[in-house]
Amino acid sequence: MEKENIYILGIESSCDDTSAAILCNDTILSNVVADQKIHAEYGGVVPELASRAHQQNIVPVVHQAIEKAGITKEQLSAIAFTRGPGLMGSLLVGTSFAKSVAYGLDIPLIDVNHMQAHILAHFINEEDHKKPPFPFLAMTISGGHTQIVKVKSYFEMEVIGETIDDAVGEAYDKSGKILGLGYPAGPEIDRRAQLGNPKAYQFTKPKVDGLNFSFSGLKTNILYFVQREVKANPNFIEENINDICASIQYTIIGILMTKLKLAVKQTGINHIAIGGGVSANSGIRKALKDAEDKFGWTSYIPKFEYTTDNAAMIAIVGYLKYLEKDFSDFDVMATARLKI
Ligand code: KG4
Ligand code: ZN
Repeated sequence: MEKENIYILGIESSCDDTSAAILCNDTILSNVVADQKIHAEYGGVVPELASRAHQQNIVPVVHQAIEKAGITKEQLSAIAFTRGPGLMGSLLVGTSFAKSVAYGLDIPLIDVNHMQAHILAHFINEEDHKKPPFPFLAMTISGGHTQIVKVKSYFEMEVIGETIDDAVGEAYDKSGKILGLGYPAGPEIDRRAQLGNPKAYQFTKPKVDGLNFSFSGLKTNILYFVQREVKANPNFIEENINDICASIQYTIIGILMTKLKLAVKQTGINHIAIGGGVSANSGIRKALKDAEDKFGWTSYIPKFEYTTDNAAMIAIVGYLKYLEKDFSDFDVMATARLKI
């Protein structure tokens, strides 16, 4: 007998992207993302505006995902949604929407940890993407998180290192703010970094023991450096923006790679996957490719569309949990500080 197809609707609303995706088994049929431009004028995500925008976006985004997938809602096997971590007001929109759809269709509800989803996005079936074998190391790098995780199986994960202050994406965004770049500044710094000299300026690297990270000192270092230089030459930023960006990027990638090397040494695991918004960065992608030849690592780099927040990664976790019949009760609550 042929196996029945499983259709999962994934819903993501943890921060400032409203997203819905449909998966048929482990293959994506649609992945719709509505980002919220409104935060750019405030230089960061404004929680109240985010949750209001999610409320406006969620119905059309889910409709579009179902339409693009070419299925009907009656074909859905289960609804997976982001339970946390994230902004409470944003999470509540996705959580209550998912509950009402699952209840209305009388199908299982599956809660998903957003950070696990960034890692398990590597198990979406893609022709040109190999899946990491267990155990592997995952480095999740985003605007809210910086972690190194030992992944023993789909749902057995151990955080072996994390930031003690700012996340790496925050380091990019705050550096961008100092330089007068728009929000989020990560992509712009990355673009300019490729045009500049990475060794033009030197920034201090934080001294944090073990596998933990710290980025707040770097931000202060960059701030004082820029203030000093601008005092001497008011056009310093405009005249040297590409070199400044390249030097910041060089420092940040150096910090990430130093910790990864230590993690490989400590665990003996050299299969390395990355996930989260900063995994779109050209510097970290190149450093990991180089590490394949240099250190014999195997690296797993997500497709661009699965780097920043998206519902495809929520749906794949939904599928993996569906196979285990790991369903949620309807009284499950959004949890802003959910741990891996
Ligand atoms: O995963 P994500 O979409 O949202 C969070 O969960 O935080 O990550 C957003 C972060 C932002 O800080 C943004 O500046 C950063 O990812 N980012 C990048 C790049 N693309 C996005 N940082 C560096 N280089 C990039 N190419
Ligand atoms: Zn994220």
